[in-house]
Amino acid sequence: GQPIPPATGISSVIRKKLMGYVGFANLPNQVHRKSVRKGFQFTAMVVGESGLGKSTLINTLFNTTLYPPKESLDPSAERPKTVAIESIGADIEENGVRLHLTVVDTPGFGDFVNNDDSWKPIVENIESRFDSYLEQENRVNRLKIVDNRVHACLYFIQPTGHSLKQLDIEFMRRLHTKVNLIPVIAKADTMTDEEIASFKQRILSDIEHHQIHIFEAPTYENEDEETIAEAEEIRSQIPFAIVGSNNFVVTPDGRKVRGRAYPWGVVEVDNEEHCDFVKLRQMLVRTYMEELREHTNDVLYENWRTEKLVSMGVAQDSSVFKEINPAARLQEERVMHEAKLAKMEAEMKMVFQQKVQEKEAKLKQSEEELYARHKEMKEALEKQRLDLEDKKRKIETGRPITPEKNATGRRKGFLRT
Ligand code: GTP
Repeated sequence: GQPIPPATGISSVIRKKLMGYVGFANLPNQVHRKSVRKGFQFTAMVVGESGLGKSTLINTLFNTTLYPPKESLDPSAERPKTVAIESIGADIEENGVRLHLTVVDTPGFGDFVNNDDSWKPIVENIESRFDSYLEQENRVNRLKIVDNRVHACLYFIQPTGHSLKQLDIEFMRRLHTKVNLIPVIAKADTMTDEEIASFKQRILSDIEHHQIHIFEAPTYENEDEETIAEAEEIRSQIPFAIVGSNNFVVTPDGRKVRGRAYPWGVVEVDNEEHCDFVKLRQMLVRTYMEELREHTNDVLYENWRTEKLVSMGVAQDSSVFKEINPAARLQEERVMHEAKLAKMEAEMKMVFQQKVQEKEAKLKQSEEELYARHKEMKEALEKQRLDLEDKKRKIETGRPITPEKNATGRRKGFLRT
């Protein structure tokens, strides 16, 4: 056995040879050759109340014992409670395709009287992984980016058969904008098939009611029938009802299987009739690994990054440099302000000149009018003067002024007798 990793959150890497077929060699069908050569990085996280079998499932999930089996520590001891966020890595290889798988185990919650903030360290862990990716993206050398972002988050739901708990709703609401949420019903061996079927329906309607976004497996269209059928089958099983176990037990018909033995029979982990474990694994590593990675990068990370930059007051455009550099921003603001003032001044000048010109034109016009009238009056007066002078001359020379004749031609003042 391997030594148990320290519960410090430090990732430890265990190199494992696969015990059996996992299915991620199918990945070349999902992505381009380049990523195949580089290998894949995939990180899954398990979240849920304490004791729901999260650590057990991690071991069961990838068909490889990431966690050292508890028997190697002390056969009588229970698997210790997870008390800190632990991350365990494994390099696994299948048909020449390398996968670096990391599983993040989070401490179970719900044990305290007040569980209000138990989501915080988990959300912070997810965000710090985004942070580290952003920091790498901003480096000059972007060739060696390590993608430690959480690509899938398995959310464990207690097999109560009732509706979702308030605590589950709170957790999922905190997580759904940051990770691909995949709800699973834990310890499904404690419920009957009918109970599981109706519990699944209730969980889905609760999730819809509370507007929680869970990972939506995309439908394939231009694929072969088998792939479409497989994808559809997986979609229809969400939330997966799972059973975890690292122990091999012998079935009544003599097969050695991973499962849980009960007085009434054996529950087989890898038997699709017994639980959805195989479907869950198929979804993660075979059918939707690339979609999970893509959605994490294109939507969840991108939204987080935009929000973060906006909260830092950085506009998402080419003026980023000026925004970051306060001196350059001030300088630019001053130049713009000055240009605005100059423009206003020029406009005022123009309007002023226009007004002056209008006034001048008006004045000139009235001056001309005045001059014309003045000239007219002067001419009239001159004519009067000439007339008067003419009369005066006639009087002085003694010539009687011819009285005006009336209309009858007679002199005025004479009456006919
Ligand atoms: P924390 O570390 O407190 O978060 O717990 P955990 O969720 O990691 O649970 P863990 O894997 O330690 O399992 C708790 C107990 O549940 C162990 O005794 C497991 O053997 C048991 N267990 C795990 N998976 C299953 C399951 O599918 N069905 C049943 N019936 N028991 C299970």
